[in-house]
Amino acid sequence: MILEILKFGDPVLREHCEEVTEFDDKLGKLLDDMYETMLDADGIGLAAPQVGVLKRVVVIDTGDGRIELVNPVITAMWGKQYEAEGCLSCVGKRGIVKRPAHVRLKAQNRFGKPIKLRGRELLARAFCHEIDHLNGILYEDKVIEWVEDEEGKE
Ligand code: NI
Repeated sequence: MILEILKFGDPVLREHCEEVTEFDDKLGKLLDDMYETMLDADGIGLAAPQVGVLKRVVVIDTGDGRIELVNPVITAMWGKQYEAEGCLSCVGKRGIVKRPAHVRLKAQNRFGKPIKLRGRELLARAFCHEIDHLNGILYEDKVIEWVEDEEGKE
């Protein structure tokens, strides 16, 4: 099911999201709906608060397949990258944001099983962008310089 994506200015996007404690069918449905919504909007990442759900849930697909993160926590990051970044809650605007070049994180899958992932470049950027959403932080807070819109939205 395609969900409505909230836009910048909606106060829900500034809320702090709660840990997921119930790994049930409802969580699975949320993840499925979020992924479908993200693909429909031509994005590479989507966080639950963007669809009005204040839970620590993220979906990402930077072209290498579907990634589901429940209760993600960054465990290490190093290096830096400066690239243009956008957001499905702010279509049509992109800006340069400094992010780490490499990120390691731990999370849980939809069944509650602990997972560990690492990402570099675009995936590292997506991890940081989406986890920021769970803490009410938006990329516009971190933009160094706004740029013309181009392909790809987180
Ligand atoms: Ni975003």
